Amino acid sequence: MERAELELSLLNEISRVLGSTLDLHSVFDQTMRVLAERLGMERGSLVLLDETTGKLRTETALGLTPQEISRGQYELGEGITGSVVKGGESIVVADIARDERFLNRTGARDVDSGIPTSFICVPIKTEGRTVGALSVDKRFLDDEALRSDQRLMEIVGSFIAQALKINEIVAQEREEWQEEKRSITANLRSKYKFDNIVGSAPSMLDVFDTIAQVASSRATCLLLGETGTGKELIAKAIHYNSNRAEKSFIRVNCGALSGTLLESELFGHVRGSFTGAIKDKMGRFEAANGGTLFLDEIGTIDTSLQVKLLRVLQERELERVGDNRTIKVDVRIIAATNLDLQDEVAKGRFREDLYYRLNVVTIYLPPLRNRREDIPRLIDFFLDKFNAENGKQLRKISKEMLNVFVRYPWPGNVRELENAMERAVVLSRGDTLTEELLPTAIRAFALQGRANMASEGIDTLTRRLAEQSINEFELREGQIYDMVVRQVEKSLIEKALARCGGVKIKAADFLGINRNTLNKKFKELGLEAEEEAAPVTPVTPPPAR
Ligand SMILES: Nc1ncnc2c1ncn2[C@@H]1O[C@H](COP(=O)(O)OP(=O)(O)OP(=O)(O)O)[C@@H](O)[C@H]1O
Ligand SMILES: [Mg+2]
Repeated sequence: MERAELELSLLNEISRVLGSTLDLHSVFDQTMRVLAERLGMERGSLVLLDETTGKLRTETALGLTPQEISRGQYELGEGITGSVVKGGESIVVADIARDERFLNRTGARDVDSGIPTSFICVPIKTEGRTVGALSVDKRFLDDEALRSDQRLMEIVGSFIAQALKINEIVAQEREEWQEEKRSITANLRSKYKFDNIVGSAPSMLDVFDTIAQVASSRATCLLLGETGTGKELIAKAIHYNSNRAEKSFIRVNCGALSGTLLESELFGHVRGSFTGAIKDKMGRFEAANGGTLFLDEIGTIDTSLQVKLLRVLQERELERVGDNRTIKVDVRIIAATNLDLQDEVAKGRFREDLYYRLNVVTIYLPPLRNRREDIPRLIDFFLDKFNAENGKQLRKISKEMLNVFVRYPWPGNVRELENAMERAVVLSRGDTLTEELLPTAIRAFALQGRANMASEGIDTLTRRLAEQSINEFELREGQIYDMVVRQVEKSLIEKALARCGGVKIKAADFLGINRNTLNKKFKELGLEAEEEAAPVTPVTPPPAR
């Protein structure tokens, strides 16, 4: 077989392994077996970085005894394996007998056998971080073959990284669900009572109304809304305000798993039903029996699974994968997605019948930019929360800052606001929320706003000021004319000064008034009165075109 053909079929086989099991040891063993049989690779080992100790340990290995495995511990940067994890780049040694970096820590190799053995070690990276290394031995043929093997191992490494990542997600979900159980006993349920969901915009009041009406029923709910609008929060509120509150609330992130893996997570499986099924396993539908199953990111599930889901929704019964016994479940389903499901249906990616089954009660969570009136309360809410958590006393924010917060479009919605407030509280030294404490996106937005104002035409400027002043001073009848004129004068002078780099004499010329008049105005209007003072308004260059 041609090398390219061989690689393709080999990678195909390995990706099938990945799709069949979540067990890391099983993934590794099967992958190594394929590599050994097809490419003559030996003694593979997977070394992972232990985040708490900062050391490397051999997670699993083929062709090594348990004693050899337990000897496989390294410091970061130590030996070839340690260097690969530290540097994040592959290292290939043509003949280990001639390389002094080679530690032979596990003692598994007879390096003096006379046959040159190569060592290929590639990094395992998830989300840009190197979290381990994968290595194999192979009898040396020629440089060309070694390079091909390196390339192939790098791809295999990225497969293993993917398996690790998925494992992490699933483990985290399991933990969350255990945590949910603990929190019920600790009676932390009030956390999801309505008073911890901020919202007084009419669209949010509608949401609360709907929740109150449907919580106690078993009706399936579909939560729609952009990322960070609070879908998960609302799902929990529905559960904890229902008569199922004493039972489990279980979340499945349908977007993280696919095919057989998601199917077996949801429905469970019996031993031997597919390659990775080493023992019987209960699915999350069964685990949520009596309680609520939250199917998050429902929009992306495979069409074959959609059929199975439809059946559970209709019949409230299911079979574990590989089993023909029917299990009855009493589960309330809440599904969520940030996709436009109707559009997915129109494009043939989401089954219409399933859509209607899910769409019994639909709750739409509006993006934050469409309910700006909630922003001040949310700021207070998060300030209190993070002050308490961090033992800080950051004060309520200034009017200008509030203005920026209210106008910013919040593409990440409440989550983005929450993160911004947490960051500000954590980084704050004093008790004032200053602009430097804000994330770059919001700072850039504030700067841009000022730049726009500074480059605004005189006509629009005066008109805007007049309008603004009329609105703001509505309550001061009889004084409006004076106040508006003062306001316009003040802004005009500030703007002129900014344009003239803070040099008063230039600003007076620019405005066409005499310098003494300008000085008088300075006093009257309470502007910075010193000679050639620094500009009153920060000079911001107009945006580049
Ligand atoms: N109305 C609200 N009041 C208080 N906190 C909120 C509100 N809405 C959202 N949050 C908080 O914002 C964060 C994001 O909310 P959540 O995880 O429920 O969003 P989501 O809609 O599920 O987002 P995604 O689609 O990205 O999963 C959470 O920490 C949540 O507690
Ligand atoms: Mg969510």
